[in-house]
Amino acid sequence: MCSVVGYIGKSLCKGFILEGLKRLEYRGYDSAGFACLDSESKRLLYAKSEGKIDVLYQKISSQALDGYIGMGHTRWSTHGVPSIENAHPQFDCQKNISIVHNGIIENHTELKNILESSGHTFHSDTDTEIIAHLLENLLLSHQTFKAALIDLVNKLEGAYAFICMIQNFPNEMVVVRKRSPICIGIGDNEMFIASDLLAFANKTNKVLFLPDESFTIIKKDSIQLYDFSGKPLIVEAQEINAYWQNIEKNDHESFMIKEIYEQKNAISKTVNFYKDLSTTIWDNLGLSPEFIKNLNNINIFGCGTSWHAAKIAQFFFEKICLIPTNIHLASEFRYMPFFPDKNSLYLSVSQSGETADTLEALRMVTSLNCHVITITNIASSTMVREANGFLLTQAGPEIAVASTKSFSAQLTALYWLSNRLAFEKNIINLNQMHVAESDLLICAEALENTIENYKLLIINELAKKYSLYRKFIFIGRNISYPFAMEAALKLKEISYIFAQSYPAGELKHGSIALIDENTPIVIFSVLDDIIYQKLLSNAHEIKARKGHLIAFAFEHQKELINLADQTFIIPKVNPLLAPLAMTGLMQFFAYQIAKTLGRNIDQPRNLAKSVTVE
Ligand code: G6P
Repeated sequence: MCSVVGYIGKSLCKGFILEGLKRLEYRGYDSAGFACLDSESKRLLYAKSEGKIDVLYQKISSQALDGYIGMGHTRWSTHGVPSIENAHPQFDCQKNISIVHNGIIENHTELKNILESSGHTFHSDTDTEIIAHLLENLLLSHQTFKAALIDLVNKLEGAYAFICMIQNFPNEMVVVRKRSPICIGIGDNEMFIASDLLAFANKTNKVLFLPDESFTIIKKDSIQLYDFSGKPLIVEAQEINAYWQNIEKNDHESFMIKEIYEQKNAISKTVNFYKDLSTTIWDNLGLSPEFIKNLNNINIFGCGTSWHAAKIAQFFFEKICLIPTNIHLASEFRYMPFFPDKNSLYLSVSQSGETADTLEALRMVTSLNCHVITITNIASSTMVREANGFLLTQAGPEIAVASTKSFSAQLTALYWLSNRLAFEKNIINLNQMHVAESDLLICAEALENTIENYKLLIINELAKKYSLYRKFIFIGRNISYPFAMEAALKLKEISYIFAQSYPAGELKHGSIALIDENTPIVIFSVLDDIIYQKLLSNAHEIKARKGHLIAFAFEHQKELINLADQTFIIPKVNPLLAPLAMTGLMQFFAYQIAKTLGRNIDQPRNLAKSVTVE
């Protein structure tokens, strides 16, 4: 997703800005740009490129294009194709005002019409360019810079974070935030600005997170912060010791394969971390014994892979805690009737802690005084700051766009939490709590062993064979149905093969018409005997219609194993953890197919890792 990085201060900025953009590169983007005011003439200098930052790097590394104030951007297209014209910065008519922006200006069409009719000429299809032209107008009609900015932010609708650099004001920068994240790192006679503090980690540990609906005029040694009505705000900078470690692939061919193999460790680190939290857990979660006693309902929301983890976790909370649990897709949840329930626990699940849809759902719930706990991998994320409590997964930085180890760490967190709540409610005893923790560790072992068992077969034979198919169907029942959804997403994301998931029982109600020899059907088994029998009937129905069946079956499930054209045998684990045990092999299978097809696996086309627009 779009990232913005800016600098004003005592040093030349090009190196920091390109390095900052590079650190945020994993979030996904399709073009990049850099602008600064020349160190001597204070004239605007800029360069933009399509594709990766390295292209921009090459373009400007040999040029004398540097200054003490500057900004950079990586763009994930929303309005307009990826191109040099649409890359940021965007400018006003005079190229006096430069803007780098993350978010969406929702009323851009209306504003563009007004600006065009007053003589402004646009050079891009972006909504961002509107900001520059609008400010150009407002600077003419207002007496002060601040008054123009107040008018500007009140005219822009949507969710956005942007940095503005103006040639006529070479000693200051403007940073604006409405809903999208942005923060300022305060240094010694220098300010670092970025959508994510990782961009300036190791430079300073004093961080000012802009409050929602605020703007600042910053100089190298001062920050004036205002709300959208122009009222000065006083917000303390926080001390955050974020460290940047250059994450390497080491001996792996991609980050995704490295992260697939890191899952065993991610699960055990997460379990051990929670064990060590012991009694402080309730402080982190912000829950009181009283609240847990009265808890009668759980609602979980998220997007993409996190939503799938939540859907699997529904079975954990309902079976282990005996609490009715509803799962919501965050992008839909916000626009559905909402019935706040003070005795309900709301959980937001998000690897990044920044996904706009999930964040907005969280805000909706907290604004109605309901309790939200966020389960995330990023301690410094907006969701951790805005939720009432948090539970951190210990997957470590995940770089590949497609989630792997975050997913297994989320399942671990959710399974552990459901047991911890059950223990608190006296539904399970301490011994059962310990069994739950060791079941997770056993499962981590099974996850890795199954990859090892099938690694060579998949690499040498199956990846090639299955990469020739143009569509796949993934099915499951009960707890394996949301897992089938995640498997279909994984294959789609990285191989671009069309994949559809269905609950196995629904096949016969329509989608069975799709079955033919050219559409492999991947079936994910379960460890519940009754549901297994039903699933087996579905497998027979598929074979009776000459479907090509690939089964993920558990070791004792002979009938399914014999029926399938290709079987992957998974060791028996705790039945609720069956999806976790299958996770590694499922991801590995999808990965090798994508690799055979020569895809850009770590950064698949069109995708972003941190989706900060709705
Ligand atoms: C994007 C990513 C997905 C991810 C989803 C939710 O769409 O491409 O891989 O599952 O966002 O992200 P989150 O950070 O909230 O888990």
